[in-house]
Amino acid sequence: MEVSLKNNVSRQASYDCWLQYEKIRDHEYYNQYVAYSRGIAVVGDSPILKSALDELERGLFSMFGQKSTVYNEAAKEASIIAGTFESIPLEDYGLNKASLINMNEEGYLLKAVKDEEKIIVAAKSDKGVLYAVHHLLRLLQLRESLKQVNIVESPKNQLRMLNQWDNMDGSVERGYSGQSIFYENHKITTNLERIKDYARLLSSIGINAISINNVNVWKVETKLITNDFLPDVAKIADILRAYGIKTFLSINFASPIEIDGLQTADPLDPDVKTWWKNKVEEIYRYIPDFGGFVVKADSEHRPGPFSYDRNHADGANLLAEALEPFGGLVIWRCFVYNCLQDWRDRSTDRARAAYDHFKPLDGDFLDNVILQIKNGPMDFQVREPVSPLFGALEKTNQMMEFQVAQEYTGQQKDLCFLVPLWKEVLEFDTYAKGEGSKVKNIVNGSLFNDKFSGICAVSNIGNDENWTGNTLAQANLYGYGRLIWNPDLTSEEIAEEWIRSTFGQDPSVVEQIKQMLLDSWSIYENYTAPLGVGWMVNPHHHYGPNIDGYEYSVWGTYHFADRDGIGVDRTIETGTGYAGQYYSPNKEMYNNLETCPDELLLFFHHVPYTYKLKSGKTVIQHIYDTHFKGAEQVEELIEKWNGLRGKIDEIRFVNVSERFQLQLKNAKEWRDQVNTYFYRKSGIADENNRTIY
Ligand code: GCU
Repeated sequence: MEVSLKNNVSRQASYDCWLQYEKIRDHEYYNQYVAYSRGIAVVGDSPILKSALDELERGLFSMFGQKSTVYNEAAKEASIIAGTFESIPLEDYGLNKASLINMNEEGYLLKAVKDEEKIIVAAKSDKGVLYAVHHLLRLLQLRESLKQVNIVESPKNQLRMLNQWDNMDGSVERGYSGQSIFYENHKITTNLERIKDYARLLSSIGINAISINNVNVWKVETKLITNDFLPDVAKIADILRAYGIKTFLSINFASPIEIDGLQTADPLDPDVKTWWKNKVEEIYRYIPDFGGFVVKADSEHRPGPFSYDRNHADGANLLAEALEPFGGLVIWRCFVYNCLQDWRDRSTDRARAAYDHFKPLDGDFLDNVILQIKNGPMDFQVREPVSPLFGALEKTNQMMEFQVAQEYTGQQKDLCFLVPLWKEVLEFDTYAKGEGSKVKNIVNGSLFNDKFSGICAVSNIGNDENWTGNTLAQANLYGYGRLIWNPDLTSEEIAEEWIRSTFGQDPSVVEQIKQMLLDSWSIYENYTAPLGVGWMVNPHHHYGPNIDGYEYSVWGTYHFADRDGIGVDRTIETGTGYAGQYYSPNKEMYNNLETCPDELLLFFHHVPYTYKLKSGKTVIQHIYDTHFKGAEQVEELIEKWNGLRGKIDEIRFVNVSERFQLQLKNAKEWRDQVNTYFYRKSGIADENNRTIY
């Protein structure tokens, strides 16, 4: 009985992720703030404000152990007073509305007033109030001081989005945490509670948009925009809306043909235009604040405008015209490449594709189109340069696409905390308008004054009890939301916040897990594909090593290794010319062997195995050393984790332990396959005579 009760509590802990709101046991802290939990007021009664009130009541009750009295006006008995600037008598608390009016629609103020007796939680919009409530709860959960608290905060990015890659049969493309929480058996789920809990998690980290089906839109999913499913999509949208999240759908470009039997989906055909107009009207009848469409076209066998000899601006504008009267957006993906091209022909290069397709169209897209660009030119590899399209599109709305799901970075078996990777991307200086033209200032719309902009990412959740398979992968979802809210937060800050919200305040636990998270990307890189060359994965499922195995390298390899050397020549003079897609001085930096950073050397250059890196090691010795080291580092991670036994609950402890065993097996396989392959190819022995199988 005792044990099962404990297990239930711990199960709940897995499920609650970072919203634990653990009881405050620190007496001093408790006594200092318990008075705040006695009376709370949330002024106004929209669905979003109701969510804010629910969160506040729930969080305070859980942390302080007493039920708050709730007021629906700024009553004098209330200690926490939440509402919009319009609804709260700010002047009564000595606050000046005029000084706050410049913050953006989602911004807010958190301020202690009346000699610290009250906290004002005020915002421009209801959504801002919800975010402010989450912020307040976070401060309490992190046991931060609220003395003289005075925070004015706004998100730095406009669209903060997740893409679900969920299919209606219940599977999740690149899902590593069970089945979809949105669909089962070709229907929309009836378990709306779980969707609500997801919305709670997402709103707590500031996510404000989501597309709820896979970018590959198959037969049944094509019908999501029909009467068959729209009533149920609307139910999901209702839930998400109450947490400030807009619903988007991925659509099939060939919908007019597949849904209504039109002869064509040609974007310039008048009947096709009318079809989309009617379709969009129908959607908005069900979902008045529908976000818009996400589109994968002409890529990996999906239909698109190329079939009709039209370009991607024609395709995107067709949909944009239909959505425009309703304020809807077209999020058009730039992940467009010919997956069947012949890699032996050096005039083609997959890395060039997004730039080559979209740069010439800069300026041709309507105002409500946003181009969605993957962070790198390839496909979410452990190491890639930043896509050169960032900075190249001066007259087109654009947004970043990251992948929280760890498709190529360990599939939520292996630990790989991705915030440092995303940060590197956002901090990258494109030099598009001279020094300081960082990616983060492009995707927040400021550099080119874009009307719409933001960041989205492929989600990593499923119906596993703990949402992400590996409990530690929750840190990626949390970290993604926090980072895109404010890209100036450091990886350390984000990691620490997540750990303390998730596992509590024990400093030894916090420090240990923090170090593990922060080291994990480099460890993963050490035992997998070296020096930016990427891939080398098993075909289709993309987990585990297979040096020549990747499915779209049928015409050869992506690494071009032979007995003399390895790497892809992407230089301007002798290679694919990809390096030339960057602005100076990045162009020269990558193009020149001497200045190309080690970690991307093989992405840009083909070099002999004996080429000396800046580290002083030869390429081949670097490969051996990092692969031996990476596998050893996983053993160290396991030891560190074992040291936490008893300090965190057993269910989460065991869950992560099991994953680490899989990671160790994976790391050893990578080590052995990579080392053996390159030993045999190069014929050069390890300087340290370690065993290479
Ligand atoms: C990768 C991934 C696919 C996905 C595609 C995309 O290739 O493996 O599953 O469909 O990216 O982003 O469209």
